[in-house]
Amino acid sequence: MTAANPLWQNARDPIQLRPDEVHVWRVDLDADSDALRRSCETVSADEQARSEQFYSLQDRDRYIIARGSLRAILARYLGTPPRDLRFLSNAHGKPALEPDSSPADLRFNVSHSHQLALLAFAQCREVGIDVEYVLPYRADAHMAARFFAPQEVAALRALPETARTEAFFRCWTRKEAYVKARGQGLSLPLNSFTVSLAPCPTIDLLTIGGDSPQAARWSLRALAPGEGYIAAVAAEGKDWSLILWQGT
Ligand SMILES: CC(C)(COP(=O)(O)OP(=O)(O)OC[C@H]1O[C@@H](n2cnc3c(N)ncnc32)[C@H](O)[C@@H]1OP(=O)(O)O)[C@@H](O)C(=O)NCCC(=O)NCCS
Repeated sequence: MTAANPLWQNARDPIQLRPDEVHVWRVDLDADSDALRRSCETVSADEQARSEQFYSLQDRDRYIIARGSLRAILARYLGTPPRDLRFLSNAHGKPALEPDSSPADLRFNVSHSHQLALLAFAQCREVGIDVEYVLPYRADAHMAARFFAPQEVAALRALPETARTEAFFRCWTRKEAYVKARGQGLSLPLNSFTVSLAPCPTIDLLTIGGDSPQAARWSLRALAPGEGYIAAVAAEGKDWSLILWQGT
């Protein structure tokens, strides 16, 4: 029997991220105008320019709140003004703090869907997160056959029809969280590893290309971030506990 996830706690100061913890923050991207104003004051000119590429005003605002929230949370952990944080990306686009901005080797990953962002933070270990707003029309058999490993497709087919949509998104978010933790984007083939579709909070990566010792290096936790959303977080190692925060 696996333990249930902890509850989402309201953000408070001081906040400390221990090396044996992974913190996940839940942020409402349709927050009030104060949150938007605060975010606008801290994002960089590049982030502002990127927001302007979104067609809808709502998407622009959501992007700015996601970036502003990322900066605000990192600033809490690091004691650095949010505007001073500098980012870089790896060859596949995974963002990280510039080494000068992160003396404590703070790592993070971000995911957003619809009006929710989830942000995962860890120290000295890679982390990846994915949240999806559950849209039943996306959970069809063609998508599963295209993206999932044969064992996952078979596990999905074995379920009653009424249970398939949620199982599809459990599988999707777990795979995506792992891919994002590895930071290799889609150069890591999605059918080269297999996750469990079971509805439990702590999940095994079953295999990675038949190499179970490699699978044992990573752990995955399912998250229930709110009505209509399914999410998962992946991190290196097994020796971490999960702390959930909301607000910024
Ligand atoms: C980034 C990626 C990994 C996920 O994107 P996504 O699910 O569309 O979007 P999410 O909101 O979860 O994540 C986007 C964030 O991930 C981060 N990101 C970008 N590249 C990344 C990478 N290589 N690794 C980890 N994180 C990355 C960024 O912070 C990005 O946010 P930003 O655009 O605001 O800067 C993308 O490469 C992708 O398209 N993945 C595969 C999609 C797919 O086919 N999945 C099938 C799942 S079974």
